Amino acid sequence: MKNPFYNRDIITIKEFNRSELEYLFSVADKIEKLDYERKKELAKGRILGLLFFEPSTRTRLSFEAAMLSIGGNVLGFAHPSMSSVEKGENLADTVKTVESYVDAIVLRHPMEGANRFAAEIASKPVINAGSGTEEHPTQAMLDLYTIMKVKGRINGLNIAIVGDLKYGRTVYSLIYALSNYSPRIFLVSPPQLKVRSEALFNISDKIKFSEHEDLKEIIKNLDVIYVTRIQRERFPDPHEYERVKGSYVIDVDLLKSGKEDCMVMHPLPRVGEIKPEVDKMPNAKYFLQIYYGKVIRGALLASIFNPDPYDLL
Ligand code: NCD
Repeated sequence: MKNPFYNRDIITIKEFNRSELEYLFSVADKIEKLDYERKKELAKGRILGLLFFEPSTRTRLSFEAAMLSIGGNVLGFAHPSMSSVEKGENLADTVKTVESYVDAIVLRHPMEGANRFAAEIASKPVINAGSGTEEHPTQAMLDLYTIMKVKGRINGLNIAIVGDLKYGRTVYSLIYALSNYSPRIFLVSPPQLKVRSEALFNISDKIKFSEHEDLKEIIKNLDVIYVTRIQRERFPDPHEYERVKGSYVIDVDLLKSGKEDCMVMHPLPRVGEIKPEVDKMPNAKYFLQIYYGKVIRGALLASIFNPDPYDLL
């Protein structure tokens, strides 16, 4: 298959079908096995710009680690106060400036549509690292890759997505990505935080899903529990947040009432949704997601920079 990622913007996961995602997974499998020296050839001499207008630990450092691991370099800012944005510079000028220094741009921004806008302005590829409540496509790539690695398949799995389904951008990218397969999706949230109907409108003819409030009622069916943080910073009213915070807490007892091999995922950061006691259970896969996040982002960058990364693998 021709490399579908070469020189391409990554704004929404909706633009990538199953065979394209699986192309990426197979590049990732190969890169993971590559020796140190060969890996360093994949982005030799390339520079990645990281523009983070919102806080991040994993996504930013994982892009950075991925780029360094394939022989490239990075520059950018982790907070807009460290840039001329603080002086009032607009996003278009920031993007125009940085694209002169780099080969691709990773952008995280609080506004929906900011990434699409940046991609229209920039002549270099733009990778969406989170756009408001809209999407976080590379998170979904690593989420699916982790499920594949642990379960060996996605079709036929019972997958619950739990927590803040209204404001969590990882939720949307995950739902869209899963709709390339045929799992059964259980959407579990308080009534105020149900998934926005636009997402279901897009996928309802492709995938089986149902909405729930009580995780305990369905736990016995589940192969995957994907837990999300209630997105405090996105609530228009802090009182609303107070009403729903702590709605779901995954603990050892809950997991013991489910399937023995039910895997627990989380894009992280967690703020109480998964008790630390769960970390030592074999079910806990959220730290594995972090590891595969670096691998998949390395594969994505290598595929964006090289017309045929297989030549180098
Ligand atoms: C997520 C995000 O920023 O959307 N974090 C991440 O990138 N892994 C999830 C969150 O902030 O809750």
